[in-house]
Amino acid sequence: MRFSQILPWLAAAVGPVVAADGDPWSLFTDKVVFDGRAQNLSASYPRLAELEDGTLLATTGLFGATPAFFPVFESTDGGIHWAWVSNITDQVNGWGMSAQPAIIELTEPLGGFPAGTVLASGNSWHPDSSNSSTGGTKIDLYASTDKARTWQFVSHIAQGGAPNTTNGATPIWEPFLMVYGRSLAAYYSDQRDPLHGQKLAHQVSTDLRTWGSVVNDVAYDLYMQRPGMTVVAHIPPIDKYILVYENPAGNSSSHGSHYPVYYRLSDSPLTFDAAEGVGIEIGGAFAPNAAPYVVWSPAGGPNGTVVVSDADYSTVYTNTAGGDPAAWQRRAVPQPSAYSRALLVFKEHPDHLMLLSGGTFDGPEPKILTASVVSLTAVLGGDCLSSAKNTRRELCDPEG
Ligand SMILES: *[C@@H]1O[C@H](CO)[C@@H](O)[C@H](O)[C@H]1NC(C)=O
Ligand SMILES: *[C@@H]1O[C@H](CO)[C@@H](O)[C@H](O)[C@H]1NC(C)=O
Ligand SMILES: *[C@@H]1O[C@H](CO)[C@@H](O)[C@H](O)[C@H]1NC(C)=O
Ligand SMILES: *[C@@H]1O[C@H](CO)[C@@H](O)[C@H](O)[C@H]1NC(C)=O
Ligand SMILES: *[C@@H]1O[C@H](CO)[C@@H](O)[C@H](O)[C@H]1NC(C)=O
Ligand SMILES: *[C@@H]1O[C@H](CO)[C@@H](O)[C@H](O)[C@H]1NC(C)=O
Repeated sequence: MRFSQILPWLAAAVGPVVAADGDPWSLFTDKVVFDGRAQNLSASYPRLAELEDGTLLATTGLFGATPAFFPVFESTDGGIHWAWVSNITDQVNGWGMSAQPAIIELTEPLGGFPAGTVLASGNSWHPDSSNSSTGGTKIDLYASTDKARTWQFVSHIAQGGAPNTTNGATPIWEPFLMVYGRSLAAYYSDQRDPLHGQKLAHQVSTDLRTWGSVVNDVAYDLYMQRPGMTVVAHIPPIDKYILVYENPAGNSSSHGSHYPVYYRLSDSPLTFDAAEGVGIEIGGAFAPNAAPYVVWSPAGGPNGTVVVSDADYSTVYTNTAGGDPAAWQRRAVPQPSAYSRALLVFKEHPDHLMLLSGGTFDGPEPKILTASVVSLTAVLGGDCLSSAKNTRRELCDPEG
């Protein structure tokens, strides 16, 4: 352990939240973005986007309101202050925006929408989700041309059966949006294919209204395997795309993780099906578990840093070697673990990593939204947790 390095967030973690009224774009720890407990609203599975002008948008799955909706929060100072600016509501199904939001900005015109349009998606299902005869799951696309103040329905991307995670049921889940070329790719988890309990797939649109055929991204021969929860990022120095996913296979386990986090690297974000899936392992002894997220930052060396988060641990998993399977390290950050925690690297401050958490998958803690902003350089230079079971901090780098 390098005692010489006292990280700002370590000092902050034991004292008051230093940046409650901090400078714009400063670092801060576990700051409350939204607390809906007074209205019985529980936040889980948040998502983040930074607009070209530096405005941050946060949204989240919310439980407790019927019909459900996705609240949208805005910060213009790097997350120091947040305002609740709109709600993304279901305008077409009468079901609500039930869970699993996605949000991005168009940086070039597409489908008749100008650059600067904010696109959002999510999973809409009937509030009585246990009744398979009333319901379905619909992954819908919404657009805002006024910086997330108002929203218009654009299209149904895909639809499936009622929400039901049992293999053999036919729902769809967990959209992720990405612009590639002059088209929008919508990734999601798909239980409709009778050959696979669940697979990962995408569809592409050039007009945002009509969608191409379903293309597999991750589909295993073993029927019971349920790859899930696609998130994709670009790694510019090697011009590859990385797709992270959870990869449960019955009750099998990787170092005790039943939903081990896997990834695939591909030259194109539309050809992951041909790429090999690799499980993230730390020191041959630890595997992160469930609901991963991935971002890339130019900080950390010639290849920058790939940063992955999972559902069960507060830590992040970093790779400064272009995704080399042997080069993952486990690093401490001050943000609590959460179900499908969101990450964001700021465009003008690429060393700054924001982590946004809602509740855990099934834990008792209050499901409020909190965020931290950490220096990735400090995270990479700081303590490294090499194994899950011990709480000792060890250096990942034996030469260190
Ligand atoms: C609060 O929300 C939960 C769902 O998250 C619901 O089961 C419960 O009935 C709600 N309570 C009240 C008082 O509305
Ligand atoms: C969002 O919806 C909630 C619940 O209906 C409401 O209390 C809140 O004022 C709405 N916020 C905005 C910005 O529309
Ligand atoms: C399911 O929905 C159908 C159609 O609305 C209704 O007839 C049926 O009673 C519902 N079943 C249950 C168990 O609520
Ligand atoms: C969920 O799907 C399974 C498999 O198709 C089915 O047996 C079960 O009845 C479904 N559950 C509900 C609540 O509809
Ligand atoms: C794992 O699941 C299989 C079948 O699904 C079952 O036969 C086996 O006993 C299970 N193993 C454990 C350790 O639970
Ligand atoms: C950058 O990534 C590429 C591709 O994985 C690898 O060959 C190269 O060694 C990496 N460079 C460094 C400095 O890690």
